Amino acid sequence: MKQLKRYGYGLLVLLIGLVVTANALAAHGEKRETRQAILLTAFGTSVPEAQKAFDKIEAQARNTFPNTEIRWAFTSKIIRAKLAKQGKRLDSPEEALARLMSDGFTHVAVLSLQTIPGVEFHQLYQNAHLFGQMSGGIEKILVARPLLSSGKDMETVADVLLKNVPGRKPTDAVVFMGHGTEHHPSDAIYLAMNAIFQQKDPRAYVATVEGMITIQDVVAKLKEQKVKKVYLVPMMLVAGDHAMNDMAGDEPESWKSILTKNGFACEPVMKGTAEYPQIVDLWLDHLKTAMAHF
Ligand code: CO
Repeated sequence: MKQLKRYGYGLLVLLIGLVVTANALAAHGEKRETRQAILLTAFGTSVPEAQKAFDKIEAQARNTFPNTEIRWAFTSKIIRAKLAKQGKRLDSPEEALARLMSDGFTHVAVLSLQTIPGVEFHQLYQNAHLFGQMSGGIEKILVARPLLSSGKDMETVADVLLKNVPGRKPTDAVVFMGHGTEHHPSDAIYLAMNAIFQQKDPRAYVATVEGMITIQDVVAKLKEQKVKKVYLVPMMLVAGDHAMNDMAGDEPESWKSILTKNGFACEPVMKGTAEYPQIVDLWLDHLKTAMAHF
């Protein structure tokens, strides 16, 4: 018993010693200067025209935050592997954050260029915050919200998209292509967007590639309304693979083919949300809101 007590005291003295040493070491360390960085993250694209849209986002971000380091990360492993084969090396968000950490950045804001707060956003959010917990690393890390994060965001995006369908007459319909997700709470955002479009314009719809609202649902409505011409517009960051194939492709299961087969004249608009400066501004507003907490 006495011996155990002695061990106990010994351990206590050792612990105190360690704490004092650690504090002394910290006190001897240089004070770190604050260095801010922005990490733009997107799913990524291997389509060169879509890459141009990314360049525009970057230019707009550099204009808005002129003295801040700006870097990119792509979340898609497949896209990163494709680009690597062409000699273009792109970081995953985790790789980019590790690099920012070792380059000595103290405050990092991550902009999620995702459309909805879905699975990809939540993964990004979770992993980014782990980088804020490492000792000697990034002191503060903030993740800005994706595009459709509030009712106000949805209204703004709907207004911009509706005003920018080139050549559309009021009797023509427009279907915005959302990605959609099997994660139902996030997929409900597309139902909300559809309701907002419908309120603003009874011939404006949202349908999704992988979510609950399908193009077949919209075809039924278009027939009831006796619509003759339908515009197809992506509600995705870039007019990439989904827009080129699932929306405007020539295969029988593309939206264009399905609508044409049902007797509608079809006009695809190959323009992603990154190509509307007002929509990019909304993303950058989310970044400003986050960075106000630095
Ligand atoms: Co997809």
